Amino acid sequence: MSPADTHSADAGTSDAAQKPSRRRFLQSAAAAAAVSAAPLAHAQQQAAATPAIAPPPAAVPMLPVRLNINGHPYELQVEARTTLLDALREYAGLTGTKKGCDRGQCGACTVIVSGRRINACLTLAVMHEGESVTTVEGLAPNGDALAPIQQAFIEKDAFQCGYCTPGQLCSATALIAEYRAGDASAVTADVRFRPAQLSDDEIRERMSGNICRCGAYPNIVAAVKAVASGNA
Ligand code: FES
Ligand code: FES
Repeated sequence: MSPADTHSADAGTSDAAQKPSRRRFLQSAAAAAAVSAAPLAHAQQQAAATPAIAPPPAAVPMLPVRLNINGHPYELQVEARTTLLDALREYAGLTGTKKGCDRGQCGACTVIVSGRRINACLTLAVMHEGESVTTVEGLAPNGDALAPIQQAFIEKDAFQCGYCTPGQLCSATALIAEYRAGDASAVTADVRFRPAQLSDDEIRERMSGNICRCGAYPNIVAAVKAVASGNA
């Protein structure tokens, strides 16, 4: 075999090796183009199927609700979905009641409605037509004088940041009334008898719906105990 033949044979082998590579390259390029074009085609189909911009929803009708808040009559116009908490803060302008979790977990929104403490974030304002609501702004009997429980919180250093304090004060006020009315709690040893004095366990149990992230619990218990026992 001459050198020329050898060269020719090498060249033939090289061509044979390269042809499949070019074919694979062209096949790969075509496949990539198809893959990248698919989302575009899908998006174009979706765009064609998207309806025209929906018209704005009709205005939500407002409902009147009459409340007696801290001894004053209020007539508020609220949406049916408005919570008592939002009605107090946003409609009546009484921002002493705090919004912590807005889902019944922290007790910051505790107010007293017709003598019972409730989480204002868990109830609708329109459900309390004609009822009496006491918020932290209404705990003090008059003027600048503080309620005994407010004074006790100061004396016992029962708060730090103060965010939970309005709810703690309302809850403690109702707790003392419940205790004096003879209501038992989950830790009352004998439900036939009212405990002679509120124990720390009783206070902790009865205040367990009010969370304090500053951890002022020992001093809160001390303040409630002082008022419940008449020592404040
Ligand atoms: S804001 Fe109502 S329980 Fe937390
Ligand atoms: S004093 Fe800060 S959360 Fe209770």
